Amino acid sequence: MRKPLDPERTQATLNEIAQRMAGEVNRGEVADYIPELADVSLNQFGIAVAPLEGPPLVAGNGDVPFSIQSISKVFGLVIALEHVGATLWRRVGREPSGDPFNSIVQLEFERGKPRNPFINPGAIVVSDIVLEHQPDGSDTHPVLDLCRRLADAPEIPVDEDVFASEVATGDRNRALGYFMLAEGNIKGDVRAVTESYFRQCSIAMSCRQLAKATRFLAAGGEGQDAKIAAVTSERVRRINALMMTCGCYDASGEVAFRIGLPCKSGVGGGVVAIVPGIGSIVAWSPGLDEKGNSVLALRAIEELAHGLDWSVF
Ligand code: DON
Repeated sequence: MRKPLDPERTQATLNEIAQRMAGEVNRGEVADYIPELADVSLNQFGIAVAPLEGPPLVAGNGDVPFSIQSISKVFGLVIALEHVGATLWRRVGREPSGDPFNSIVQLEFERGKPRNPFINPGAIVVSDIVLEHQPDGSDTHPVLDLCRRLADAPEIPVDEDVFASEVATGDRNRALGYFMLAEGNIKGDVRAVTESYFRQCSIAMSCRQLAKATRFLAAGGEGQDAKIAAVTSERVRRINALMMTCGCYDASGEVAFRIGLPCKSGVGGGVVAIVPGIGSIVAWSPGLDEKGNSVLALRAIEELAHGLDWSVF
C-alpha cells in the first residue's frame, strides 16, 4: 500500500525543487513557431500538486498562466468519449507512434487512422467529434468549459493572440485534417475542426489550476469527483494508460522509464503527471527539449516522484 500524501513533506519538497530549478542553467529552448510562445521568458518554473483531498500545494511560478497546448488533448478525449464511447477507437488507435506529434508519414501508410489521440491527427479527429456534438449556439468551447469547471476557475481564458497565431501558422495541421477527410475519417469542415483544436490549445492555465483540473485522473473516477461523475473508473484507467504510452510523443518510453507515471506534455512547457490514489502533479517551464517536452518540468517531476516514492510500478 502506498502511503497517503503528507502535505508538509510534499510542500517542503516542492519548495526545494523550485529553488533548485530557479538556478538551473540548462533550460532548453522556448517553442519558436509563433511569437507568443517564443517571447515567453525562459527563466520561469512553476509546480503544483493537487492531492485527492485538500487544497493544491504550489511552489515557484505555479500561479503564472501558460499555454496548455497539447495538454488540452486529454480534456478533448474525455469529452469525445462521453459523446461516442468506445466507438471512438474505430477512428483513432491506441499505440504509441514513435514519430513527432505533427508527423504526416504514418498517417498515409495507415490510411488516415491516427495511431493515438495524443498526436495531432488523433486530436484533430477528437476535435471533429467534440465539434459535431457541440450544442448549436453555444459560445464557449467545451474543453474551456470543462477546464473552468474542474479547476473551479471561471476566469480561465483562451489566449486570443496565441489562437490567432495558431490559425495563421496551422497549415500542417490543416493538411493532416484534409488528408483524413480524404480518407473518410473527418466528418466536419476541416477549417472549423482545426480552429476548434487550435482554440483548445490556446487555453491559458496555471500549474495550480491544471493540477486541480486533472486530479480526477488520480481519483479513479466513479463518484470520486462530483464534477466529472460521467467518467468511469475504467475510462480513467484507460486515459492514464494512453498518457503513459503516448503522452510525451516519441519520448513517451523514455519518460515512462525515468518517471514511471502517466504524463502529458505540451509545447507551452507544461507537463501533467498522475499519481493514482495520491494526486496530480503539474510542472511548467517554457524551455523544451528536441522532442517538444519541457526540460525542467520533466526533471522536476522526476525528482519529486523519486523523492516521495511515487510510481505506478
Ligand atoms: O498543434 C500544434 O502544432 C500546436 N498547437 C502544438 C501542440 C503541442 O503542444 C504539441 N506538443 N507538444
